[in-house]
Amino acid sequence: WPAFADDVEAILRLKRERDAVILAHNYQTPEIFHCVADIVGDSLALARQAMTVEAQTIVLAGVHFMAETAKLLNPSKRVLIPDLRAGCSLAESITAADVRLLRQRYPGVPIVTYVNTSAAVKAESDICCTSGNARKIVESLGAPRVIMLPDEYLAQNVSRDTGIEIITWAGHCEVHERFSPKDIRQLRAGHPGLVVLAHPECAPEVVAEADFAGSTAAMIDYVGTHRPARVVLVTECSMSDNVAVQHPEVEFVRPCNLCPHMKRISLAKIRRSLETLTHEVTINAAIAAPARRAVERMLAV
Ligand code: 13P
Ligand code: SF4
Repeated sequence: WPAFADDVEAILRLKRERDAVILAHNYQTPEIFHCVADIVGDSLALARQAMTVEAQTIVLAGVHFMAETAKLLNPSKRVLIPDLRAGCSLAESITAADVRLLRQRYPGVPIVTYVNTSAAVKAESDICCTSGNARKIVESLGAPRVIMLPDEYLAQNVSRDTGIEIITWAGHCEVHERFSPKDIRQLRAGHPGLVVLAHPECAPEVVAEADFAGSTAAMIDYVGTHRPARVVLVTECSMSDNVAVQHPEVEFVRPCNLCPHMKRISLAKIRRSLETLTHEVTINAAIAAPARRAVERMLAV
């Protein structure tokens, strides 16, 4: 009987009592991902699914910007995050005032903000994107020049793929910036036949060494569709754990980096969140309206 079984049982009971659903990001640990989550996915899927939730309460097993996005898209629901300190180095790299200054500096240039930002930053932008739709969103603007914030590497990867000039910001994901092209070359040398899948938050030189780059959901789809004999997911550690359960025939080579923010969420904290109905995510109405518009524009594309 696994050590976490008590927490799982309690969470399943509390979900019924509280009329709650759990939305979990692909980086959550397997016991959250497989045992208690109702909906799992990348940032884009979680945003889409949040809109359709009918239950009274959403527990977001992920990071703060994901909980804010769920609240923006389904404002009448109570949205809880089990640990308020579950942040993101990208979201912390830029403020609303920074975006206003960029707009003044580049009048008329459309501003795309990555969903990994605060609601206040989204509110200053024209449209949002995720790693799953960044290319499509930038192309949809039909502009020769676009400002894309705050992930410098994602912006550079999109610029290379689309040929569109992108003004970037020096934000980085603390998990993906740690991978280097040399890491990938060493992995290939040590594991013949290795298929390398990288997240587009990795530096362009790392993406250039990979066989495929895509969002967390796109990487999962790739494994399901291509069933490579050996694969490495150049991303957060829990991804391989979660996907390996579904694909025992695939060998997962495991160098990975942990996201300390994602790892703040645990079964015990989810249980406590449901018991005490904390921590509720709220967004100031003056920020919520323009931020929602930017997210809804993205979903319309
Ligand atoms: P995805 O949208 O690809 O799931 O990425 C979210 C994230 O935080 C990656 O670091
Ligand atoms: Fe943010 Fe990177 Fe963690 Fe994703 S993995 S939540 S981008 S710090």
